[in-house]
Amino acid sequence: MIIKLLASILILCTQSVALLVSVWYNPRSVARCTKQNYFTLSCSFNSPTNLDRREVFHSITNASIYALTSAISITPSLAISPEEAASSYDKFASTYDNLDDGSISGMLGINEARIKIIGLAKGRVLEIGVGTGLNLEKYTFASSPLAMDGVTSLTLLDISVGMLAEAKKKVASMNVPKYVKFDFIHADATSSEMTDLFGKETFDTVVDTFSLCVMGRVGALSCLQQMRNVVKDEGKVLLIENAKSSNSLIGLYQDLTSEKAAEFGGKGCVSNQDVRSFIMQTVALEIVNEEEYASGLFRSFVCVKTNE
Ligand SMILES: C[S@@+](CC[C@H](N)C(=O)[O-])C[C@H]1O[C@@H](n2cnc3c(N)ncnc32)[C@H](O)[C@@H]1O
Repeated sequence: MIIKLLASILILCTQSVALLVSVWYNPRSVARCTKQNYFTLSCSFNSPTNLDRREVFHSITNASIYALTSAISITPSLAISPEEAASSYDKFASTYDNLDDGSISGMLGINEARIKIIGLAKGRVLEIGVGTGLNLEKYTFASSPLAMDGVTSLTLLDISVGMLAEAKKKVASMNVPKYVKFDFIHADATSSEMTDLFGKETFDTVVDTFSLCVMGRVGALSCLQQMRNVVKDEGKVLLIENAKSSNSLIGLYQDLTSEKAAEFGGKGCVSNQDVRSFIMQTVALEIVNEEEYASGLFRSFVCVKTNE
């Protein structure tokens, strides 16, 4: 337990610093930050944002403490099975947003990436691994039941009942046109049960953000196939995923630590997967746009289903 604790502290502290440094110093990051004085870090995103350095360190400390307590109570192993993901995320559900929707995600450009990618969703939409529903507020809903200027129905799928329950609460508090239909589905997105459940070529758009990293290589490849099956021809598959950084130092650091980070508090999420190559291995799925955030630690992909 002591070794686990020390390893968690080391990994989480260095990981937090690496994330911070990647945003701070890398000119290719979406977020560009300059030091004004000791306490003020001025970060330019699409719209200018000033972050107080105390707030940044406060967030990092909070995130580390939160992840540490999670690490002590839950220790998912690398490429956790769907069953393990379900029980782990059930336990994370009520506190998930504290870590994954804080100012760090703003600094890294995750919020901006979510707004950009989710804004492209149209028509009948399936979101897999919806979690607590951090994308929900970013959807644009259609102006009428048949209009294709936004989302006409939203099917939210997750393997964790606890996470789905949190997403349900968010939907209940949202102001959504009455004609937009919501469905909540408890299912495994890596299994062919997903295609059986919905049928082939059912959705105009299929969305995933940060779920493939939990599924491991085999699970992620299988999930992409299911997503490809259920999306219509010419329909879109929209992804934001953790990836190996394009900065070689950070990439090396990820290679050395991602397995342990996934095990100790990373919620089973392996951060250095090569998602682009997974997409390229998926028949009839073509990347039409890719953007990198925070030195490539996160990438968004817009993919189109082509005729098989
Ligand atoms: C890191 S969270 C991401 C949640 C959300 N998409 C977001 O962007 O915040 C990963 C989510 O994937 C779900 N998940 C993991 N394995 C899954 C599987 N095999 N099928 C469906 N959902 C899965 C987890 O329960 C969890 O809600």
